[in-house]
Amino acid sequence: MGCRRFVSILAVAGVFGACFIGISSLSQTEPGGGMSLLKQEMLACEETFEAIINALIFDNMEVIGRTIPPLQKAREKIERAIRAGEKITLAKNQDQFAEFMKLDDRFHKDLNILLEAAEKGHKKVAEEQTHKLLDSCVVCHQKFRKRPSP
Ligand code: HEC
Repeated sequence: MGCRRFVSILAVAGVFGACFIGISSLSQTEPGGGMSLLKQEMLACEETFEAIINALIFDNMEVIGRTIPPLQKAREKIERAIRAGEKITLAKNQDQFAEFMKLDDRFHKDLNILLEAAEKGHKKVAEEQTHKLLDSCVVCHQKFRKRPSP
């Protein structure tokens, strides 16, 4: 893999590092205990992407295939809840829920493409998809996640 690409994966990982540290205390509570479905999905996102970045760095493509399905399950839970009429509360811009769903949908489609690429051992596609997915964490957070006050 190109060294520049590798460095940029690390840079993106670094940006998320702060976020990961910020919520590590949450992970110590029992899984999902009292947490909103969205937060549960986001914790799954965090774990999955840490694993994916490691998998790319150490060339363990099969790890990607193992880590993505649990994240897809977390998302299915949200979908079922929405279909059952439950309200998903966004940290901000609740009035743009349709846009949130669109971003979420795109995110999960891209996740499937990553899974497929990893299963076929297409490393370059897997890297590109990982970048795309990490970019979409940022885009969605800018719009729908409130930064906690310091
Ligand atoms: C479609 C929108 C969307 C995408 C895509 C998305 N997130 Fe989130 N994320 C949110 C929202 C909204 C919150 C705030 C949830 C809350 O505070 O209730 C959040 C919160 C989080 C949190 C918890 C932070 C906190 O404040 O407790 C983590 C960790 C997280 N996201 C990681 C990720 C990672 C990693 C990715 C990409 C791999 C990602 N998210 C992609 C919408 C998204």
